[in-house]
Order: sequence, then structure tokens, then C-alpha cells
Amino acid sequence: MRFRNCKPPVRPLLIIVTMVCLWSLHTAETGAVGPDAQPNTSTRNQTDKLPITIYYEALCSDSMVFITHQLYPSWLRRENEMQLRFVPFGKAWIEERPNEASKFHCQHGPRECELNVLHGCILKKMPPKKAFAVVACLMKNFRTSFEQVCMEGHESFKDGIVKCSQGQKGAKLFKKFANETDSVHRPLPFVPTIVDDQPYNFYEQDDWLQHFDKKFVERYEAKFGVKL
Ligand SMILES: *[C@@H]1O[C@H](CO)[C@@H](O)[C@H](O)[C@H]1NC(C)=O
Ligand SMILES: *[C@@H]1O[C@H](CO)[C@@H](O)[C@H](O)[C@H]1NC(C)=O
Ligand SMILES: *[C@@H]1O[C@H](CO)[C@@H](O)[C@H](O)[C@H]1NC(C)=O
Repeated sequence: MRFRNCKPPVRPLLIIVTMVCLWSLHTAETGAVGPDAQPNTSTRNQTDKLPITIYYEALCSDSMVFITHQLYPSWLRRENEMQLRFVPFGKAWIEERPNEASKFHCQHGPRECELNVLHGCILKKMPPKKAFAVVACLMKNFRTSFEQVCMEGHESFKDGIVKCSQGQKGAKLFKKFANETDSVHRPLPFVPTIVDDQPYNFYEQDDWLQHFDKKFVERYEAKFGVKL
């Protein structure tokens, strides 16, 4: 099987639990929202950005679908409100051995490790907006190589990215991604995992995955008291 699924078997349960939680949340909130809670539409602070971090894997089909159909279109609309970060690691792990170079293992094989490192170098070497466009392009059609089409117009970055991905710099980035991902949850129960400025919440993941833009707007409005 070429496209190994990144969904764990707990998914149906997750949906049920999420529905139950959303229901109780909804019931709890209706009482709390008074007439004063209306956000002030006239005062959006241009510097207010809600952090969003995406923990993903380069060859994970769920990550591809999410980035292509949910995240990237939303980011294009809300780039002034979203502080987006990508962490390409997912369920990978690093095997450390004394007196040896560390070994990388990825859920979809060695090629995925190479690609995760490559994505890391793209994100490191290019300005964020351009880097996001290239990563979204690579994820869009299961692009398994650093293809010309995604780098069109960004040729000047290419050498630096390739050099980074083949050397110590790329390996160092990958270890940083490992550390960040492990700090969320070790191992991640689901890839991709989406986190905003709140601590990771397992029960919200399904909602983020299926209704990213709606949830982003809700969170933004709640945090900054401003209507998008
Ligand atoms: C919204 O913000 C503006 C500018 O700060 C202020 O003048 C106005 O009174 C506010 N409106 C509400 C309903 O808070
Ligand atoms: C906008 O937000 C930034 C950071 O929170 C703050 O420093 C600044 O004073 C705010 N500006 C206005 C006009 O509220
Ligand atoms: C990440 O790195 C920091 C600093 O080296 C360390 O204190 C922390 O324990 C690491 N976190 C994990 C989950 O490995």
C-alpha cells in the first residue's frame, strides 16, 4: 500500500467524544454570553496575530488534504491575522546512539525523512510567505521531490535549501522539530496536529481539521474581541 494512512484507529471515538464535548461547551456558553460580549468591529489592531502551528508529515495524505483544502486557503485570506508555523516531523523519531550519527525514522519511510528535512530548510531559508507557498505546492499533489514547478520564481533560494537539507543544518532543524513535537504530545496521536495559542487539546483536533477557517475566526474573535 503506497499511501499509508496517518489516522489512528481511535478516530470514530474521537468524533463522538468531540461531539459530546462540543455539545456541553455549547450549552455552557449560551449562559455566559451576555449583550456586552459583542466584539468591537471598528478597532482591529493590525499587529494582533493568532499563532497557529501545524505539526505534519511530508508524505502523510491527511496532512496533504488538510493543508490543501483547509489551511492554505484560510491563510491566504487571513495572513494579516495568522502567525503561521509549520513543524514537519509528526510521528517520526530519532535514534540516538553513542559515537554514531543519529538515525531518523519516519512514518512513511526514509524518503519522508528527507522531505521533512527539505521542508524544514525551505521554511528556514525563505521568507515565510514564499516558504508557505512552496510547502503548500509540494503538499498539494503529493510532490515527492523538490520540483521545479513549486520553486518557480524562487530559484535564487534553491542552492541554499539543497545545501541545508544535505548537511548538518538540516539535521539540526529536524532535531529541533522533534523537540517541539514531543513537547506537544509524545507520540502525536494524530497527524496533522493543529495548535493555537492554547495548550494542545486532543478533543479539538477534529474540529480544527474539518472546519479550520471557522474555528480560527472564532478563536481570533474570542482572543482579540474583534470581528473578522
Ligand atoms: C469601538 O472602538 C471605538 C474606537 O476605540 C470606540 O470609539 C467605540 O466606542 C467602540 N465601540 C464599542 C461598542 O465598544
Ligand atoms: C496593538 O497590539 C500591540 C500588541 O498587543 C500593542 O502593543 C499595541 O499597543 C496595540 N495597538 C493598539 C492601537 O491597540
Ligand atoms: C526540548 O529541549 C529543551 C532544551 O534543550 C529541553 O529542556 C526539553 O526538555 C526538550 N523537550 C523535549 C520534549 O524533549
